[in-house]
Amino acid sequence: MLAFVGGTGPHGRGLALRLAMAGEHVLVGSRDVARAKAAADELNTRLRTPAARGLLNAEAVAQAEVVFLCVPYQSHHATLAELAPHLEGKVLVDVVAPLAFSRGRVRAIQVEEGSAAEQAHALAPGARVVGAFHNLSAEDLLLPDRSMDCDVVVCSDDQEAKRRVMALAEKIKGIRGVDGGPLEYSRYVEQFTALLITINRTYKSHTSIRIVGI
Ligand SMILES: NC(=O)c1ccc[n+]([C@@H]2O[C@H](COP(=O)([O-])OP(=O)(O)OC[C@H]3O[C@@H](n4cnc5c(N)ncnc54)[C@H](OP(=O)(O)O)[C@@H]3O)[C@@H](O)[C@H]2O)c1
Repeated sequence: MLAFVGGTGPHGRGLALRLAMAGEHVLVGSRDVARAKAAADELNTRLRTPAARGLLNAEAVAQAEVVFLCVPYQSHHATLAELAPHLEGKVLVDVVAPLAFSRGRVRAIQVEEGSAAEQAHALAPGARVVGAFHNLSAEDLLLPDRSMDCDVVVCSDDQEAKRRVMALAEKIKGIRGVDGGPLEYSRYVEQFTALLITINRTYKSHTSIRIVGI
């Protein structure tokens, strides 16, 4: 069972849609149960199977083995502080890119712990934290027929959790999982998102990344 905290937003809904298409059961989490249920109903309508359920964030986390954290960076700290007791022993996939938008530019926020993923480890030390899915377009994920044709770089200090998340990534059409090394390397993947958004604006496109030479 997979849970998506903040799963009512485009990135959480997109990942939930693609993984449910691949046969996973998904729990859409929200701070508001009505919003969670509405998002799950919409997914089930698109999937034509009852693969999704909507729950409060903490209830979704409690029922899942793998938890995707899909909230804005501005609520990363508070959300983890609240959910930490429920995350003990679970794989926590942090997809959060710490970004600030001002005066027409997007910049990476310098996180005290080094990255959002390391901040998650500090706040929820019992969770098996993995950083992944930062360099994807949610809009493309929400187009179920579109092949993503990109790599997802996956960083973690927990080798088994990393392998599990790489395998989940590869269930999405056109994605290859790439081992990005330890959790501290998540900072580079998170920060790269600012560059991709800037390129997207210039070329009016949805870019992602491909590592060549492997
Ligand atoms: N969008 C993309 O293309 C993309 C790509 C790569 C990475 N990401 C990363 O993925 C994460 C989610 O992106 P998104 O575009 O889906 O974000 P979003 O729409 O801004 O937020 C996702 C959900 O987070 C919850 N949320 C909002 N404010 C909150 C708060 N103060 N406290 C707790 N929960 C709050 C909301 O759910 P409820 O109101 O239902 O609780 C919201 O639907 C971000 O950190 C982003 O950096 C996004």
